[in-house]
Amino acid sequence: LNNGLGATPPMGWNSWNHFHEHINETIIREAADALVSSGLSELGYTYVNIDDGWGEMSRDLDGNLVADKTKFPSGIKALADYVHENGLKLGIYSDAGYYTCAKRMPGSLGYEEQDAKTFASWGVDYLKYDNCNNGGIKPLDRYPIMTRALMKAGRPIYFSICEWGDMHPALWGYPVGNSWRTSDDITDNWERMLSRIDTNDVYADFAKPGGWNDPDMLEVGNGGMKKHEYIVHFSLWAIAKAPLLIGCDPGNMTDDTIEILSNAEVIAVNQDPLGIQGKKVRMEGALEIWAGPLSGYRVAVLILNKYGDRRAVISAEWDDIGLDPSTVVEARDLWEHETLKRQFVGKLTVTVEPHSCKMYVLKPIA
Ligand code: GLA
Repeated sequence: LNNGLGATPPMGWNSWNHFHEHINETIIREAADALVSSGLSELGYTYVNIDDGWGEMSRDLDGNLVADKTKFPSGIKALADYVHENGLKLGIYSDAGYYTCAKRMPGSLGYEEQDAKTFASWGVDYLKYDNCNNGGIKPLDRYPIMTRALMKAGRPIYFSICEWGDMHPALWGYPVGNSWRTSDDITDNWERMLSRIDTNDVYADFAKPGGWNDPDMLEVGNGGMKKHEYIVHFSLWAIAKAPLLIGCDPGNMTDDTIEILSNAEVIAVNQDPLGIQGKKVRMEGALEIWAGPLSGYRVAVLILNKYGDRRAVISAEWDDIGLDPSTVVEARDLWEHETLKRQFVGKLTVTVEPHSCKMYVLKPIA
């Protein structure tokens, strides 16, 4: 969407994956505090996004959405002011239907202009717009109405289309929103995580600055996967230029969780100004090579072993990853944080442990 936002994939936190609808203003404020105190906000995680469950079931007498009086007694504007004072941005959630997915608050269908104005007046910077209870009306007869409403609301608001991929939003999403979900919901599970990114990969060519494919939010730190599996999750999301929206409790992160989410070299791949989505370029059994171009003629490569029971020796061939076969490169290992001593030409061969990956930036040398 041409609204000046999303030049690189959005980064931040969202309440859903960890708290579901059990949220309140203390949880959101403490999440914001933790993003700052952990150093994550300085690395680019600036959106603090409230998901489903923030509103009263009934609109007020003027038809305005109202924040749940028990869970958010100070209101959303106060929360927006608070996160802004801390250098962060506030995101909110609504639904292109009559009720949101959790069904405990109204959606915005038929109230698009009014709700967009309300969000803008509160100081909201990001809207996630879900797809439940939509009366069978086609997405293209619902989402662009909110796009226009946001454009007129008087405040730049990142627009996240949460249509779950059913009607292939990658094909129509760019003029409508800043990102679009390509699948239904992730869970904190290895297989489910991998299937999200595989579905997302089909649409790789449709992503570009201003409009990104969204394989759903991160589960890193929620406890359902091992550290090396979360490293795979984070690396895949980064190379695929997916939104990096933390989905754990930022106030309760282990050192491993912080280490993964804070990997500035992996984040830099995600936030590279070229904005070209890395893709799966080779697959042999459960061994995969993912790659994509970066600025400065560099290439990001992810070498993945999906087998659970054996380590594997895998080669990334220049032919597959988009380098001329004669190109000599320097290889930077993004998880070991070291530049390999020898240089490589034609291919890079590595050993990868089960359910693990290696990730590199290859830089041609003159
Ligand atoms: C849908 C979305 C989720 C979350 C929930 C909230 O399932 O895909 O990301 O927002 O609704 O109810």
